[in-house]
Amino acid sequence: MLLELHHIEKRYGGVAALTDGNLAVAPGEVHLLLGENGAGKSTLMKIIAGIVERDAGQMMWQGREVHLKTPSEAAAIGISMVHQESLLAPHLTVAENLYLGREERLPFGWVRRSRMMEAASRLIAEHGFPLRAEWRVEKLTPAGKQLVEICRAILHGSSLVIFDEPTSSLSGSEAAEVFRIVRTLRERKVGVIYITHRLDELGSVGDRVTILRDGRTMHTGPLVELTTGSIIRHMVGREVSALYQRNPLPPGEERLRVEHLTRRGELSDICFSLRAGEIVGMAGLIGAGRTELCRALFGVDPIDAGRISVGGRPVSIGSPKEAVKAGLALVTEDRQVTGLALRLPIAHNITLANVTAISRFGFLNGNAQNTAAADFIGRLRIRAGSPHQLAGRLSGGNQQKVVIAKWLFRQAQVFLFDEPTRGIDVGAKAEVFNLMDELAREGAAILMVSSEMPELLQVADRILVMREGRITGELPGRTTQEEIMRYAALETQPVSEERP
Ligand SMILES: Nc1ncnc2c1ncn2[C@@H]1O[C@H](COP(=O)(O)OP(=O)(O)OP(=O)(O)O)[C@@H](O)[C@H]1O
Ligand SMILES: [Mg+2]
Repeated sequence: MLLELHHIEKRYGGVAALTDGNLAVAPGEVHLLLGENGAGKSTLMKIIAGIVERDAGQMMWQGREVHLKTPSEAAAIGISMVHQESLLAPHLTVAENLYLGREERLPFGWVRRSRMMEAASRLIAEHGFPLRAEWRVEKLTPAGKQLVEICRAILHGSSLVIFDEPTSSLSGSEAAEVFRIVRTLRERKVGVIYITHRLDELGSVGDRVTILRDGRTMHTGPLVELTTGSIIRHMVGREVSALYQRNPLPPGEERLRVEHLTRRGELSDICFSLRAGEIVGMAGLIGAGRTELCRALFGVDPIDAGRISVGGRPVSIGSPKEAVKAGLALVTEDRQVTGLALRLPIAHNITLANVTAISRFGFLNGNAQNTAAADFIGRLRIRAGSPHQLAGRLSGGNQQKVVIAKWLFRQAQVFLFDEPTRGIDVGAKAEVFNLMDELAREGAAILMVSSEMPELLQVADRILVMREGRITGELPGRTTQEEIMRYAALETQPVSEERP
C-alpha cells in the first residue's frame, strides 16, 4: 500500500471531526472518498497533507509510520492536495502561485522568472485550460482558481494527489479534463484520492470507495459493488429519496422584468421575466455571463443600459443594499467572498439579511434569532456544535447551507440562486430544492443558475440558456441536455476578467 490510515481521531475544541478514520490507497488507484457535509473528509485529507495534525491513530506512508507537521513535509515525500477552498495567494500571478513554496524546482538567476512563465504556460496549454500564466489570481472566477489549484498539485510529480471537490465549480468540458488528468495520474501509478458530492461523476473516475459518516469510516470497497442507493444509505444512515419532484404551479403575476440589460463586454441586450411561483433555470458554460447577470441585477456591478422592474414597478438598483430593498435576494457561488461573514456565528449569518424579523421595538431578540437559526440548522442538516459556532469553522458544504438559509429567511420577492448546491451533499440538495419549491408556492419567483444539467432538468419549470453574454434560447423544463448544449456551446470559455 502507498498510504494507510488507521483509527484516525481529530477534535476541534468541542467538535469531534474524526473519531475513527480508516483509509488505504494503493499506487495507481483512484480512491473515492464520500460522505455528507461535515463527515470529516477534508479534515482527513488535511491530516494526510500535513495541514492538520491528528490527535490519535496511525498514518503509514509506503510502509513506514509518518507524522507530518507541515504541507512542505508532505510535499517532500510526494503528497499534494487540490483544496476545496482556494488557498492561493490572490495578488500573485498564476505562474507565481504554481511555484509558490517550491522555488527550489526553478533554475537560478535572472532567467528564473521567464523560465517560470514558460513552464507554467506549457502546463496550462498541455491541458487546454482557459488560463494565462501572467494573470493575477484575484481576477479569476472560482472555476479559474480551481484550475490553478489543479495545475499546482500535478506540477510537482507527486506519488499521491488529493482532489477535494475539484469539479464543484467547473463546467462539463473542464470537468472532463479533470477526469482525463486523473486517468493519466492512474496510468503513471500515482495514487489519487477524489472527493465529490456529484454522484453522477463517480463512474468516470473511481476504482474503490470509502464512505465516511460522522467522522467514522462506514464502508470501503470496489465501486462496482455499490449502487447509488447503497452509497446514499452508507452516507446518510437512513433511506433518502435523492429524487425531488417538482410540480409546477400556474405562474402568477410578474415579479421581475428585465429589458435590454447591457453591461459592456459582459452582457448584451438581456430580456426576460419571472413570474410568481416560477422556478426558472439558467444554463450555460463557464464564462457565458450567468454570474455577471446575477451581479448586475443585484447591483454589485453597474449596468450600461436597460430597465429592471420588480413587482411591476421600475426600480433603479445601484447597490446590493438597494437590491435587497427592492425585494431581491442573491445566493452566490463564491460564498467566502460575498455570501458569508466567516467571523460571525451561524445564527447571526442566517438572520443578517432580515434583522427586523427578529427584533422588537428596535431591539434584537436573541431568542427569536436562535429559534430561527435552529429551525434552518435542523431542516438543512447543518452540522454544527451550536448556532453560536463561527461560520468560518464549518465544513465547506455546511457554509453553503448557511448562505442559503440566510436568504431563505429573508423572504424576498425574487430569488437569484447562483450555483446554490455547489458542494452540498445529496440529502441536503433535496431539502434545498424543497425549500425553493416552498418559496415558489408562497409566491416568490426564482432564477437558478446551475452548471449541473441534471439538476436543472429536475428543478426548473423552464430553462434560459446563455452564451457569450446573451440569452440564446428558452426551453421548457422537460428538455434534454443535448438540447441545452445546442444553445450553450461555444469555443472559448474565459475564466478571468482579463480577456486575452
Ligand atoms: N477549524 C475548525 N474548527 C472547528 N471545527 C471544524 C474546523 N474545521 C472543521 N471543523 C468541523 O469538523 C467537522 C468535519 O469537517 P470537514 O471539513 O472535514 O467536513 P467535510 O466532510 O469535508 O464536509 P464538506 O462536504 O461540507 O466539505 C465539521 O463538523 C466541521 O464543522
Ligand atoms: Mg470538505
